[in-house]
Amino acid sequence: MSLKFTPETANARILSVGAYRPPRVVPNSEIVGRIDSTDEWIQQRTGIESRHFASADESLIDMAAKSANIAIARAGLVAEDIDAVIFATISYPYQAPSAATELLVRLGNTKAAAFDISAACAGFCYGVALANDLVRNKTAKNVLVMGAEKLSDFTDPDDRATAFIFADGAGSVVIGPSQDIGIGPTVWGASAETRDAIVLEPSYLEYKKNPGKLDLGWPNINQQGQTVFRWAVYEIAPIALRALEAAGLTPETLDAFIPHQANDRIIESLVKSMKLPESVVVAHDIRTSGNTSSASIPLAMDALLAERPELHGKSALLIGFGAGLVYAGQVVELPNKPNNQSK
Ligand code: UT7
Repeated sequence: MSLKFTPETANARILSVGAYRPPRVVPNSEIVGRIDSTDEWIQQRTGIESRHFASADESLIDMAAKSANIAIARAGLVAEDIDAVIFATISYPYQAPSAATELLVRLGNTKAAAFDISAACAGFCYGVALANDLVRNKTAKNVLVMGAEKLSDFTDPDDRATAFIFADGAGSVVIGPSQDIGIGPTVWGASAETRDAIVLEPSYLEYKKNPGKLDLGWPNINQQGQTVFRWAVYEIAPIALRALEAAGLTPETLDAFIPHQANDRIIESLVKSMKLPESVVVAHDIRTSGNTSSASIPLAMDALLAERPELHGKSALLIGFGAGLVYAGQVVELPNKPNNQSK
């Protein structure tokens, strides 16, 4: 049997981007003492010079709300115009209810559809894929895709393998209807056989199973850096090229490359493997933002547009990759310059 209705479709694009970085800038010099490291080592191995940490009383949702309000205003919308929120995060400290519904309350729009996704550093690109489909099928009109993390809460400052990498921030986009096709096909998937390469542990259940066992420690991110590095360098470039090709572009016709900001050496290696010409503007927000997982791509997008305003309305290849291991990439048309942009 077939249902009796005529499906309607629309085109979708990113209408706006909004970013929030907590004011506290943390240079490498503040990190190195506890991990027997140096500013020089961190800069050489990762490109990171400094990052932002939220204050103890600044929550994930505080950051997300600030980013969302900027994105909504730049789209020329108000909170009530948002009819779905997709919240990508791995650092919301509750299993339920969702971060997305807490954000709705903070935005003063408690009626929109809202849910979280857990795809770590690929979470934002997973969210863009879903939002694109929601708008294209007219399931929603204006979707807020949020990537926000307070990773300083889940990083051990004494862990030599992670303390210098992870950071805090929130970046978001509003995806809505458009005349032209503004979001290309998503190429996504997983390498789940390597799912223990990045883990946040112990789980909540371990505390229940082992009451009073304080030496279990606080849940923190553990990362096998070299395993993830090799995977990113060898596997991600061909996936990113597939996303480019799926959108009908080539390295020569692409305007910007905004990969997940995990390590500047990974970014440089991707640029080389993909043979991106010098005309492609590459985001290097990692240098002053660190690795903010799901927030890194929208934060980098916002920074790039502030630095290079001529990229408004131009094409950008996004590629997210991380814990799972999971990945997703797509070409997007960057948002046009907002009429009401204050900064
Ligand atoms: O966002 C999710 C996805 N995550 C990623 O993409 C992260 C991917 N991985 C990485 O970015 C890199 O693996 C790290 C930046 C985490 C580490 O860099 P690396 O070049 O892979 O370092 P390594 O673990 O191979 O260690 C190299 C050397 C070792 O010394 P020897 O054996 O060569 O003498 C380590 O002991 O660097 C030493 N080392 C350090 N030295 C100073 C390891 N950690 C540190 C440190 N400070 N923090």
